[in-house]
Amino acid sequence: MEQEMNVMPRIGDMAPDFKAMTTRGEIQFSEFIKGSWTILFSHPADFTPVCTTEMSGFALREEEFTKMNTKLIGLSIDSIHSHIAWVNNVHEKLGVMMRFPIIADIDMKVSKLYGMLQPGESETAAVRAVFFIDPVGKIRLIMYYPLNVGRNMDEIIRALQALQVSDEHKVALPLDWRPGDKAIVPPPKTVEEMEERMKSDYEMIDFYLAKKQV
Ligand code: BEZ
Repeated sequence: MEQEMNVMPRIGDMAPDFKAMTTRGEIQFSEFIKGSWTILFSHPADFTPVCTTEMSGFALREEEFTKMNTKLIGLSIDSIHSHIAWVNNVHEKLGVMMRFPIIADIDMKVSKLYGMLQPGESETAAVRAVFFIDPVGKIRLIMYYPLNVGRNMDEIIRALQALQVSDEHKVALPLDWRPGDKAIVPPPKTVEEMEERMKSDYEMIDFYLAKKQV
């Protein structure tokens, strides 16, 4: 069977640009993302249960994202009318308002551009993707979940915090890192740096594994 080759954006790539209609009007993505962090996330379909829990989850925590200088933008392969009806329905039934824009990707243009359409999972619905895009427009982290498993909002926020702390302090973050935990100091690149490190007050397992409070 011939497989359609889909070039997927990767970590470190600049976020591909596009123009799209959203629940908040037309956007040029390169303009939308300029100067702030952006989380672009897809859901398989409006008016479906797992998606409703996830999208209302994003809405409930939007303020936390705003405090982290981060914009939210959703997407599914549905019409703008479907999105509007669903936003209204979720507001009525759950009392939660999805204020962030949701892209109506009815022609699948953006889904294909971002590798959200994964035919082995579904030919017609986007998988549950999350793209973390930094203020210069670079893709920094990507998550893909299948149709039948909802994402974890705490992990999305933790990953964003980790990216921001890593950038600010030039450190790496270990397994299960949470804000307030020590961070990993990048390994020394020269013998001199290694000797310097041995004299430091870092928490040190060995010269290549050292932690400090940030
Ligand atoms: C859901 O959100 O519940 C869902 C959507 C598409 C396929 C399976 C589940």
